[in-house]
Amino acid sequence: MPETTRTKTNLHALDIRSPHDCGVVIFGASGDLTKRKLLPAFYNLFVDGILPKHFIIIGFARSEMTNEVFQELARQAINEFSRRPIDQGKWNEFASRLYYHRGHYDEPDSFHSLQKLQSERHNNFRSGKNWLYYLATPPSAYGDIGACLKQTGLAEDHDAGEHWSRLVVEKPIGRDLDSATKLNRSLAASFDESQTYRIDHYLGKETVQNILVMRFANGIFEPLWNHNHIDHVQITVSETGGLDRRGGYYEDIGALRDMVQNHLLQLLCLTAMEPPHNLGADAIRDEKRQILEALRPISSEQTNQYAVRGQYGEGLVKGSAVIGYRAAEKVAEESQTETFVALKCYIDNWRWSGVPFYLRTGKRLPKQCAEISIFFRGVPPILFNANPSKPVAPNVLSIRIQPNEGIALEIGSKVPGPHVAVRPVSLDFGYSSVYPAGTPEAYERLLLDVMLGDATLFMRRDEVEAAWSFITPILDGWSKQPINDFPNYMAGSWGPATADELLFRDGRRWRRL
Ligand SMILES: NC(=O)c1ccc[n+]([C@@H]2O[C@H](COP(=O)([O-])OP(=O)(O)OC[C@H]3O[C@@H](n4cnc5c(N)ncnc54)[C@H](OP(=O)(O)O)[C@@H]3O)[C@@H](O)[C@H]2O)c1
Repeated sequence: MPETTRTKTNLHALDIRSPHDCGVVIFGASGDLTKRKLLPAFYNLFVDGILPKHFIIIGFARSEMTNEVFQELARQAINEFSRRPIDQGKWNEFASRLYYHRGHYDEPDSFHSLQKLQSERHNNFRSGKNWLYYLATPPSAYGDIGACLKQTGLAEDHDAGEHWSRLVVEKPIGRDLDSATKLNRSLAASFDESQTYRIDHYLGKETVQNILVMRFANGIFEPLWNHNHIDHVQITVSETGGLDRRGGYYEDIGALRDMVQNHLLQLLCLTAMEPPHNLGADAIRDEKRQILEALRPISSEQTNQYAVRGQYGEGLVKGSAVIGYRAAEKVAEESQTETFVALKCYIDNWRWSGVPFYLRTGKRLPKQCAEISIFFRGVPPILFNANPSKPVAPNVLSIRIQPNEGIALEIGSKVPGPHVAVRPVSLDFGYSSVYPAGTPEAYERLLLDVMLGDATLFMRRDEVEAAWSFITPILDGWSKQPINDFPNYMAGSWGPATADELLFRDGRRWRRL
């Protein structure tokens, strides 16, 4: 059971829990994710006094590095990416808990020496026999690492479950249903599902967690949250950035796998799921899986009717000229990789019968944002809505996940003056004005949850596979149709014209963000 916090923290969202003593091994510790996210997140948790008293991090990778070099790498990473600046006193203490172990991911000897280091440090730091193993390598190494951990006896919980061993896995979990199933099977050969934490960092965002609070802690929304009152839902996750040095990775993946299979479908699940019978990890994940299973399949033959793909050419983003996708490093001249996707989905259950969910995501779009917009049905065409050429705008509830996190409800209001004119106005709640202390980074929350053994915000194996079951036929449909029109949108625009047509056909349009 988690301990209660010993130290007072200003991180209000995480304020009552602190894990037992433990250690962390990061595989792939020389890489990008470790620098950008993991080390800064652990540092912030440390500064907040949330990490246990006895805590160490061992970086494991093939690169040649001493402890001192690894500590310096961490210092630079925290300097660059942490939400808090380095405090020299805290840093010295944090740095003294960082170790590096050079090894190969597929060599049992490297794991025996890791085990030796763990027990030596355990004696020094009493970090307990609880270990979190973070796979921050490309997925091709996951199977070997899992197998070596198991072979060395590091994968098991000990002392009748009193001491734990947990595995954290990064996306992508497979590239289609078949490969995801194989990867999950290979992880399951070493770690039990209850020990496995699949990260989707979107679920660590405060605003994403707030979707459930908004829906189920407020009496006014739930009675309206169904096909009787909701016309349609739009979910947009747009990026202004391009490849950001990740050309080799992205070229092989594309937007559907990189963003829709995980982040957008998770947002859809939280928006659409039934109330869970409790707030336990499995109750919530059961409900999310039910939504994924209720998604109406888009067969390969129907792909063009329900799915749009795009790739950006050169253009202007936020006033600066940028190159097209095909001109980027490590991208093929005739690349067929999509950098934009729009989908129209239906959830075939009672609540959502006939309500389309439109999803879109892309790179090099005009604005960096993530938002869910719930469009309510319009009022009858009488009174203020009697003139068909000037329909009254529907009520829209928008959940801003980033930036400017908050919730806004658009309602019709009378424009002051002698004439009767109705204009939409916004009732707006901004997180930062109500909670000025700021919110923790998603990785902080998620890493803490793993240490506490709370799997609520992690994807279970069946969820991941259900999501791939929906996505894989779309990938198959696309693979059968050569693309002749890429690039089909200019950098800095809202994607290809076909994405607008997807909604125009239904008499709707994308919300202006
Ligand atoms: N970077 C991000 O922001 C981000 C975001 C979401 C998810 N992810 C996922 O997180 C994982 C790590 O991402 P990353 O960006 O840190 O990756 P990375 O920098 O490409 O790789 C991390 C480390 O893994 C080792 N490595 C590289 N290629 C390898 C290979 N083919 N086989 C075995 N080891 C290899 C390298 O360390 P050594 O050579 O020293 O062993 C490298 O420093 C990936 O699964 C990625 O998809 C990353």
